[in-house]
Amino acid sequence: MNAIEMIKERRSVRKFKNEKVDRATMKEIIDISRWAPSWANYQVARYTLVDDAAVMQKLANDGVKGFVYNMSTLKNAKGVLVLSFVKGKSGKLDLEKEEYATSKANVWEVFDAGIACQTFCLAAHAKGVGTCIFGVIDDDSISEIVNLPEDETVAALIVYGYEEGEHVKPTSRKDVGEIMRFVDA
Ligand SMILES: Cc1cc2nc3c(=O)[nH]c(=O)nc-3n(C[C@H](O)[C@H](O)[C@H](O)COP(=O)(O)O)c2cc1C
Repeated sequence: MNAIEMIKERRSVRKFKNEKVDRATMKEIIDISRWAPSWANYQVARYTLVDDAAVMQKLANDGVKGFVYNMSTLKNAKGVLVLSFVKGKSGKLDLEKEEYATSKANVWEVFDAGIACQTFCLAAHAKGVGTCIFGVIDDDSISEIVNLPEDETVAALIVYGYEEGEHVKPTSRKDVGEIMRFVDA
């Protein structure tokens, strides 16, 4: 699978086979994901993997704000990544100081997490593992359930597993003319 096919064919997968992805495969996927670029190469993304049914049930019950769509996807998935990042680094040029280098301040840490997120999803797709990113989540509750270190915050949940049935049909995209512009003098 080449890079273009990978980007275009990755879909949000919400139906999974009743088969766990083994931990060695997940380690391989994270090993690829860690090549994601990051602010000043601080590499603030952290990957907490849950494949234990009881912990996943807790995440479904308390980690997605009762959003039934995510609850049912989580109950169906065989694993979930809690993607987090180390706070207070991205956006700074000098880690010894409090000040951020740009008007976006610490927003760059979420930006870094976003890049890590897509890199993970693409790496998983390349290894035949389906993923779906969840933004409707309860950060505090998730942090408590997985015992996240104090200096980290949750960016997203990403459920994963082997896709059940046919690959999800392509979702729509805006026309390129609608989203790009050139600037001439
Ligand atoms: C930041 C973000 C948050 C998302 N949150 C959810 C979510 O909470 N639940 C869900 O089922 N899908 C969620 N999605 C998946 C999107 O709905 C999906 O990416 C979009 O519809 C395009 O479909 P595709 O991923 O198959 O191309 C999220 C995606 C992103 C990037």
